[in-house]
Amino acid sequence: REGEKKFVVGVSHSSINDSWRKAMVLDMQVKASEYPGLTLQIKDAGEDNDTQIKQIREFIKQRVDLVIISANESEPVTTAAVEAFRAGIPTIIIDRKIYSEEYTTFIGADNYEIGRAAGLFINSLLKKEKTTIVEVWGREGSSSARDRHNGFSDALIHNDNVILKTVYGRWHSKETKENIAALGLFDDIDIVYAHNDVMALAAREAIMEIDPLAVKRIKFIGIDALPGKGKGIEAVSNGYLTASFVYPTGGTTAIKVAWQILNGQPVSKQYALTSALIDKENAGTLYLQTEQLADYQEQIEKQRNNLEEMLSEYRFLQNSVGLILLL
Ligand code: FRU
Repeated sequence: REGEKKFVVGVSHSSINDSWRKAMVLDMQVKASEYPGLTLQIKDAGEDNDTQIKQIREFIKQRVDLVIISANESEPVTTAAVEAFRAGIPTIIIDRKIYSEEYTTFIGADNYEIGRAAGLFINSLLKKEKTTIVEVWGREGSSSARDRHNGFSDALIHNDNVILKTVYGRWHSKETKENIAALGLFDDIDIVYAHNDVMALAAREAIMEIDPLAVKRIKFIGIDALPGKGKGIEAVSNGYLTASFVYPTGGTTAIKVAWQILNGQPVSKQYALTSALIDKENAGTLYLQTEQLADYQEQIEKQRNNLEEMLSEYRFLQNSVGLILLL
């Protein structure tokens, strides 16, 4: 529309290769379509710190109106995020933290508290005799993995009857499966606590392939609780997982807050998103409810893609007409 102010928001993602991050992108795109004149430029760092740093610096050079950053690893990405803020670009940090206070707003759920809630939940499952727990870590350099570990470790009862083993899954299914399989024997394992549902389900799959009987006994606990087929809520409702914790993407809030900043409205330094325990009590109902939501989301995504295609055809035509008129 004529005379309308245009804003470019650069979104720097650690990666867009898993369902939680895809959901975040979709939430952002859907919300952004509400605001005329707002364009999202999305960059995927493919889980590489150097790529992410480079991409943030490109946004700074380009002088985007605002940046949203979800850091792959907190330490290395901090410098580039601070550079953006110091360059006068409003900077929203989402999901994973950076190690500095130099940003405009942080949006995310409290991973330490989620880890603590998982620890308390696991305490209630401890047996009188020995209980062996396997903790499957997300990428160690990411604040979400560290906080989920620290909260869990602080809440967990540590005594001679609790044996803790560590497996590194780096958020991924493949690495988790390999490293769980490498444990060899599963007779003694009682509980698997994974930093996300993808890894909790991968651990289950790996054990299923080697020792299906053990799977019946072991309790698998994850984090994310996404709606939709094959995701966390369904996995809890069909008993694959004993519990999961909702980890909201914050995508919608990020765009809403971005719009406020761009329009000169005051915003908070922090937006704390809430989590919730999903267990067999609430998973079934929630699954049914969210199934429809997931359907809607899919439809919105399809329509959005159609619209984008139409728009780019329209722009092409517009340019061609312009060219013809020039000639
Ligand atoms: C995806 C993801 C989610 C997780 C989040 C934490 O990369 O691993 O599954 O909840 O990142 O930052």
